[in-house]
Amino acid sequence: MAHVLDRLVRHAEWQQTEQPPALELQHVTAGYDGPPVLRDLSLQVPSGTLFAVLGPNGSGKSTLFKLISGVMRAQKGSVRVQGQLLAVARRSGAIAYVPQEEAIDWSFPISVREVVFGGRHAIMRRDGIVRFAPYRFARSAHQHAVDSALEAVEMLDMQHARIGALSGGQKKRVFLARALAQEAAVILLDEPFAGVDYRTQERITSVLERERRRGKTVVVVTHDLHGFARQADRVLLLARGGRAHGGAPDDVLRHDVLSEVYEGLVTA
Ligand SMILES: Nc1ncnc2c1ncn2[C@@H]1O[C@H](COP(=O)(O)OP(=O)(O)OP(=O)(O)O)[C@@H](O)[C@H]1O
Ligand SMILES: [Mg+2]
Repeated sequence: MAHVLDRLVRHAEWQQTEQPPALELQHVTAGYDGPPVLRDLSLQVPSGTLFAVLGPNGSGKSTLFKLISGVMRAQKGSVRVQGQLLAVARRSGAIAYVPQEEAIDWSFPISVREVVFGGRHAIMRRDGIVRFAPYRFARSAHQHAVDSALEAVEMLDMQHARIGALSGGQKKRVFLARALAQEAAVILLDEPFAGVDYRTQERITSVLERERRRGKTVVVVTHDLHGFARQADRVLLLARGGRAHGGAPDDVLRHDVLSEVYEGLVTA
């Protein structure tokens, strides 16, 4: 009963503030065998924000994304997406997730365009389209969505290349395009800037800012303390052992906080 009341109260609050948070974690504890990686983590990501997740190697950034994308379950606590249970949000395609490393058989003969089309599956399913029908039979709206996603990452001219034949940075751009094609409300990108050149980094940043202007929520794991994280609306800084600092970039990315989290001298 208390649970139901709690939900009703929360629903009323959202109506006042118009929108539920894009993401809401409450007292989440998660990990693998051994001590938890995330400990009692509570977090709200408002809709329409650029949100950066930072922290040392092994602090749990990818684990956090696995939880939000539903790849992994929390040991304790709850995860909500746009006020909905995670399972409901996942089914409707509300979350697009680009993992740190794609588990893909690179020798599989699939083209760049087909990979990006993969992002349309949830929407096509809603349209009643059979998932395994060849993508070239899809309606023009889907074709346009794929074109514009490829164009955004400047990969349209390589759309017929085999995915396995691309460089590391080009592959990253294609997976970002797949996430864009999904038209999800929440986009999770785990280290999209790792191993990409400066110009591509700028390009990806401007695409993400465009998505934010369109009302999407973009959550990015990055090690770039001085670039992207400073442009974000909010940041979450994870420390090893499950501690976390959240807030505006200038409040979190301070010399004293960074030195503590990175266990040494870090220039703010
Ligand atoms: N599949 C797994 N099985 C067991 N332990 C894991 C697994 N994946 C991650 N871990 C452990 O969980 C902790 C957090 O890992 P996670 O991948 O979330 O870190 P991260 O912050 O993303 O690090 P990085 O910056 O290196 O990507 C690490 O100590 C890691 O060893
Ligand atoms: Mg990681």
